[in-house]
This record gives sequence, C-alpha cells and structure tokens, in this order.
Amino acid sequence: MSQAVGRRPRVSRPLQDRVAQIGVWPPRAAQQAEALAALEQGEVVHLPRLAFPLLEGEESLLDPSLCDGRSKNISFDPSTGRIGGLKTDELRALLVRRLMERFSAWSLATARQLLPAYAGALQLARTSLRPCDVENRAISPRKDDRRLHVDAFPANPVQGRRILRLFANVDPQGRPRVWNVGEPFEPFATRFLPRAGRPAPGAAGLLQALKLTKGRRTAYDHAMLRLHDLAKEDGVYQETALKRRVAFDSGATWLVFTDAALHAALEGRNVLEQTFLLPIGAMADPAMSPLKILERLTGRTLLP
Ligand SMILES: [Fe+2]
Repeated sequence: MSQAVGRRPRVSRPLQDRVAQIGVWPPRAAQQAEALAALEQGEVVHLPRLAFPLLEGEESLLDPSLCDGRSKNISFDPSTGRIGGLKTDELRALLVRRLMERFSAWSLATARQLLPAYAGALQLARTSLRPCDVENRAISPRKDDRRLHVDAFPANPVQGRRILRLFANVDPQGRPRVWNVGEPFEPFATRFLPRAGRPAPGAAGLLQALKLTKGRRTAYDHAMLRLHDLAKEDGVYQETALKRRVAFDSGATWLVFTDAALHAALEGRNVLEQTFLLPIGAMADPAMSPLKILERLTGRTLLP
C-alpha cells in the first residue's frame, strides 16, 4: 500500500482491498502517495476521521422537502454561483448557497492537501447536496444509481479528463452511506465495449449546435456513456458482478475516480459531493485512465 507513486504495479488488487483507509489527518508523504496510487488504481480512498463541519443552523437544511422534485440533487456551480434543484424561501436558499460554497472550498483544500501532485491541475466542477433517501427513488434503470455504474455526463462532455469526486456524509442522525464497489475498470470495459458502438456521423456537432451538450461529445464521451447505460441496463450483470458492500459513516469523507470505479449508492442520505475534473497529464500514470485503457482496447484514438 505504501509503495512510491508511479512504481506500483499495474495489477488490481482483490475486491476486498478496493478501499484504501487513510486514518491519519493531516496526511504525511506516505499517506499522500498511498492515496494517489489507490485512486489511480480505481480504488476508493476512505478518510473515516475527516468530517466536514456543519455550522449552527445548517442541520435544518438537510431536508428532502428542499428538493424541487425534478432533480435527484440540489446542485451548485462554483464558477457561476448558480443553484439548481432547490425549492425553498429566499433565506433558506441563501443558507444553502453559503453551505455549498463553504463545502466546495473545503473540498478543494482537502483534495489539494491529500493529493499535492494534482493540486495545480484540479478543475472545480459541480457541487451537490443529496438530502433524499437513495432507496426511495422510483426511476428508470438508466437513472438508478443503486445499480453498479461508472459516471459519464450526457450534457457535459469531459473530453478525456478524469472525474474525481469527494463525498462527505453529514447525516445528523448518524446513518451510514452504503455503497457497492465493483470490479476494476479494464475487465468491465472489456465485457461491455463490443456492444458500445460508435457515435453516428454528425451526432456530436448536432448535439452541440442544439445546445444539448456543453462542448463537443467526443468518441471517448460516447463510449463512456454507453458503458454507463449498458451496465445499468444489464440485469444479469447487476445480479452476478463482483461487488463489495462498503459503509461510509456519518462524519466520514471519501474520494474516488467515479469514471473508473464501478459504484452504486444503496442506502443513506445527507451527503455533500464535490466534482473535480483532472487532465490525464496530471496523473502519475496516465495509462491507468479510462481514456488510455479504452484506446488500447479499441485500437482507436478516441479524442479528436
Ligand atoms: Fe455515480
């Protein structure tokens, strides 16, 4: 677990080891190296003793009735200050914005402290507040995050960049957030890639012109969306895939590259989440990125 970064062999460890616990905070060089290597291997880095502190009054914002009923989360764009998915009065909206701004800044500082090698390259994307019970949502398989999947964004193509997410369980009633964590990315991609197909000619330009995507949906983005959908829609895979149940207690923080780590949210509520995008050039081992793995498996270049 504590080998020097970059020298770790490219062999995934058994499923029972796919969560790396970092019990020391602030992290020293050994924990920073361990976290970086674990993340790039597609593992979850679990910080059981690092809690995001809520301020007085913020517990009252952890309320499912604040959701507008159309979105699964309340979202915040740190670059514009825009909040989405929220239905409440002006005062509570201000408090939600303050909470999410504070969480976003805390997440960036935490990620930079744990992963100094990424510090200058991390791009801040959406922040989300998830106050609703995961188990109570009735939705289509494709939208059902209780099914194992890798993340891919239909409207926001990442164009090869990694999706790194930091989660904090802030549930005041102490309920754990429970996930399943699945197999490594490469065997997963090998299984579904033959059914992924290629984007229709002209589709990416059309999606962009119609403003259905922010930027161009590359062949890489297309492949990742197909892998996301194929996995969620495959009932046999969902039943039989290797998986490990992991509980993240209230007061814990965890990070994971959700574009490579198969994951499913099974139980819990009141999770805050910050998304970062990371150019693969900032990785210690870019060959471990989904882009490079998919290019190797397809024998094609997936970015223009
Ligand atoms: Fe996800």
